Amino acid sequence: MSHVVTVNPRILAMEYAVRGPIPQRAAEMAQAGRSIIPCNIGNPQGLGQRPITFYRQILSLLEDPVNLERLGRAPSDAGTYPADVIEMAGEMAEGSRTGTGAYTESAGFKFVREAVSRFIDARDQLDSEGGLASDPDQVLLTDGASGGAVYVLEALISGPQDGILVPIPQYPLYSASIARCGGVLVGYHPDEESGWTLNRSILERSLGEARSKGVKVKAIVVINPGNPTGALLDVASMKQVVDVAREWDLAIIADEVYQENTYGRPWTSFARVVGNEKIPLFSLHSVSKGFYGECGHRGGYLEIRHSPPVEGTNLTLTEVLLKQASVNLCPNTMGQFLVHLMVTGPRKGTQSEELFRRERKTILQDLEAKATMIRDSFSKMDGMECFGRTGAMYLFPRLSRLPSGVGDFDYCMALLEETGMVTVNGAGFGQAEGTNHLRVAFLPPFELIEKVMPRWVEFHNRYV
Ligand SMILES: Cc1ncc(COP(=O)(O)O)c(C=O)c1O
Repeated sequence: MSHVVTVNPRILAMEYAVRGPIPQRAAEMAQAGRSIIPCNIGNPQGLGQRPITFYRQILSLLEDPVNLERLGRAPSDAGTYPADVIEMAGEMAEGSRTGTGAYTESAGFKFVREAVSRFIDARDQLDSEGGLASDPDQVLLTDGASGGAVYVLEALISGPQDGILVPIPQYPLYSASIARCGGVLVGYHPDEESGWTLNRSILERSLGEARSKGVKVKAIVVINPGNPTGALLDVASMKQVVDVAREWDLAIIADEVYQENTYGRPWTSFARVVGNEKIPLFSLHSVSKGFYGECGHRGGYLEIRHSPPVEGTNLTLTEVLLKQASVNLCPNTMGQFLVHLMVTGPRKGTQSEELFRRERKTILQDLEAKATMIRDSFSKMDGMECFGRTGAMYLFPRLSRLPSGVGDFDYCMALLEETGMVTVNGAGFGQAEGTNHLRVAFLPPFELIEKVMPRWVEFHNRYV
């Protein structure tokens, strides 16, 4: 082989700003001994969040079956493990049959998929209303939500004129995966000033433009709560998405990984809004976010509703997705077990319940307090405007008063150099032309953020 290699141009076309030049510069600064505040990535345990005790106690027993069996026989030796942990770990080991070290079904452990379906039914109450129970055979366990999103995009993009409607700004998994599959990203722009809401004309404008260029739009991605906007979508907007999906023959890809990060505000799933309409729906959830923050364990699920038949075959789309999953053999087992824990939790009245509740509450309250503190500081910054109800783990303020000739990348770099704050500039996610933003992940410890905010305010007002 020569020293130069030709690489798939689609791989070269992929971009992922969350790990781009700003965090790279931050890493250099950290190496040189500067203190940095990494607000660039939604990686809770990477920033000091402690794992939920109940989850890790169960995982550790599942990884140590000899100990689990021993404790099952001699509960008095349990030491730090509560009886309910031993009991649940035992049930999960039995449910899995083969434990953590064997390949599993490509769709993931059946007992976990059944638990996912029960969780969805309890959450959405569709089962009791219209016989729309979630079907475990339409659930795929995946290595993080990313795995599920990629399966769906790979299957739907069948040629260079196939498009996917994606919010702008968006989480770059979507733009990168569409680029890799050789499809067309068709952007739609939620209305920032009304809290990143959606309406029919926003969506139809983008669909009309795509159609006039010969692009066949197959699906719409909705991220709720949003990344990077952090905004929680209202039900009226969701209904408009469903109306447009019905009329334009679109599937809906509902990225709902932040469904626990709503800070006391009501949240509705797309499954609930779609109801019994025959619109293909792919819903994603993950162990990486919420209060669990288990990003490194790579657990997630994809639930499919109204799976359509695949043209020219006798297959449904779910069967095609399963074929993709089978090429990867199976999702990792610890991620699957964590999905089970995410959708079940400790049983009522058990010893673990109280601690679990406390840990959950502390994490979510802390996130909300940090978001509020940052948002309050924005009001002291000239031309810093932040729209939408706080959700997810991000704030995405608009920089309305940058000096002429300066973009959000320059601002974020200067902010980093002066204060150590690592953020991602708006252009990394896409944004309406002529606007500038930045994304702040409110995950570093409260004290660190509290200390840096006055310096950010001072920097900002001087800079603009
Ligand atoms: C909107 C959104 N979807 C999906 C993901 C990927 O999550 P996972 O770790 O489950 O692959 C992220 C991660 O930040 C995200 O923000």
